Amino acid sequence: MPTSILFVCLGNICRSPSAEGVVRQKAAERGLDLTLDSAGTGDWHIGDPPYGPMQEAAQARGYDLSGLRARQANAADFERFDIVIAMDPQNSADLEAMRPEGGAEMLLFTDLLEEPGTDAVPDPYHTRDFDGALDLVERCAEALLNRLERAEIKA
Ligand code: 4NP
Repeated sequence: MPTSILFVCLGNICRSPSAEGVVRQKAAERGLDLTLDSAGTGDWHIGDPPYGPMQEAAQARGYDLSGLRARQANAADFERFDIVIAMDPQNSADLEAMRPEGGAEMLLFTDLLEEPGTDAVPDPYHTRDFDGALDLVERCAEALLNRLERAEIKA
């Protein structure tokens, strides 16, 4: 069965859909079979497509996020996915509060970098730095796939 990974941020309209789209494309390029999804800890944007400026920045790099729709993370996600990856420590704390005993492993996306240097993908909805967020998401995506290929992360 393919490894299944859920990416989680706050709104599910900027960082986590970008992570899903970037990892999907890079995994396909490497021939890796992964089941991917994303969700938000908040409920404000349920049913919305990724934020326009985020989609445009991603499209400029060849990532099409237009088909994604926001949803809220829930306790069942910890049974459905092998790995849950949070974009920042607040997302991580919010997820931990809903995580059932024995549920999926939870990781911070930036912790996958060889030299993290930061504990968060900054929220571009507030910083407006969509390209900076994508730069970091791309680095974390490569690091995730490297670790999966080297079996440093097991599902
Ligand atoms: P995201 O960014 O967590 O990367 O999707 C945000 C988008 C919307 C809001 C917060 C963060 N909001 O408060 O509506």
